Amino acid sequence: MNTIAAETGLSEAATELTRADRDSFFHPFSAIRDQEENGAIVMANARGSRIADVRGREYIDGAAGLWCVNVGYGRSEISQAIEAQSRKLPYFHAFNGVSNEPSIRLSEKLLEVAPSSMRRVFYGSSGSDANDTAVKLLWNYNILRGKPEKRKIISRTYAYHGVSVAAGSLTGIPVVHQDFGLPLDFARHVSRPDLYRDAPERQLHSEEAYSAWLAEELDQMIANEGADTVAGFVAEPVMGTGGVLPPPRGYFEAISSVLEKHDVRLVADEVITGFGRVGAWFASQLYDIRPDLILTAKGMTSGYLPMSAVLVGDRIWSVLKEAAGDGRVFAHGFTYSGHPTCAAAALANLAIIEREGLVARAAEMGQILRGSIDAGLGDLDMVGDIRSAGLMLGVEFVADRLTREPLPASAKTAARIALAARRHGVLVRALPNSDVIALSPSFIITEEEVGALATALRKAIGDVAGELKEEGVLPA
Ligand SMILES: Cc1ncc(COP(=O)(O)O)c(C=O)c1O
Repeated sequence: MNTIAAETGLSEAATELTRADRDSFFHPFSAIRDQEENGAIVMANARGSRIADVRGREYIDGAAGLWCVNVGYGRSEISQAIEAQSRKLPYFHAFNGVSNEPSIRLSEKLLEVAPSSMRRVFYGSSGSDANDTAVKLLWNYNILRGKPEKRKIISRTYAYHGVSVAAGSLTGIPVVHQDFGLPLDFARHVSRPDLYRDAPERQLHSEEAYSAWLAEELDQMIANEGADTVAGFVAEPVMGTGGVLPPPRGYFEAISSVLEKHDVRLVADEVITGFGRVGAWFASQLYDIRPDLILTAKGMTSGYLPMSAVLVGDRIWSVLKEAAGDGRVFAHGFTYSGHPTCAAAALANLAIIEREGLVARAAEMGQILRGSIDAGLGDLDMVGDIRSAGLMLGVEFVADRLTREPLPASAKTAARIALAARRHGVLVRALPNSDVIALSPSFIITEEEVGALATALRKAIGDVAGELKEEGVLPA
């Protein structure tokens, strides 16, 4: 019996909802034709790690939405905090020196759990706007330091930093650029760190040697561009949408010394990795990264309300503060910067993470998930690589395990596996480039649910392998 679906009582309305969706809702990152022909899957309600659609089908959410529902669904503590705050002071802006208690308390809390060099918190509503704020902070910082030409920002191929015009330029995923004439010309991209595909292609067989090669590439790029034109380097500590790529050993150490040499600031995009996902409050702490800016969103509220934060480190803050002596305004901010109700949701979410020890649990469940996926999928011919950091895990599919030959892109293998997994009752994400599916369940996922995820995925891979054999994509 599907208990969540029974609560909704919506099944008769499902067809009407699907039609209304098709005729009115323009979906992000969705194929318009697919919505027209197949209709959307309409979600209705959720508890813990499980979610149900309006037709009453229940799924284990192996992705926590989009890497974000870290404390799980149905947390009444967060809902109550939202209700209480929205009754008391639902909204007021934070422009012109106005403030509110939830945002003040949240700022204190973020500085308490973040690396100690962070000094101030600037708020927005999305990971994309956090990246835009970082770009403008770097530009402003260099203008104030008398280096207005120092404006270029280096990111990495296949990075995901969002879709707004500046963040979308930093993103290194071709489909985000193609149809929009991006990137803008302040953005540059060096190679992603991909131990499975790129390191062996370059004959780099130790992680340290690969890190040194990547740092050398960055050094060359900065030298070629001219260090006096490069303001920043932005990186996800563990690349998410670009393939779930943990950094090779020594990577951030090697990169950081190049950045220091050229007076280039480091931005850690912790929109996915912040607030426990990799088994530490921030990945910067886990990998000993010393960023000048830390960007966060998603897990700060576990997605219950939209909110982002840019944590501003000492080196940048001290320049801004120094220059402020003439009374200048930092002319950047959003209607919803420091939104009191979103801040109340974030505070309730962080209180749950602390009280229930969910950062440690993410580390522990990350190992259990890894063990379960290794055991459940490791022997399958199509599984080329399994990699993970805490509760972020990627499975890469190949045509040949020995040669690592990729499957043809036209076969859309990962997308089909994600669809087949849905038929077997689990939601996972197919990433946009390589044939990788990502798992990033909530931190409260149980061992039993992890086992069910692995079992369903094994079946889904079996289904798609069978189809690919029939189609002649794989040998029979
Ligand atoms: C690392 C990273 N940065 C930025 C973003 C953009 O966040 P948003 O979709 O909230 O704009 C994402 C979204 O997935 C992300 O993974």
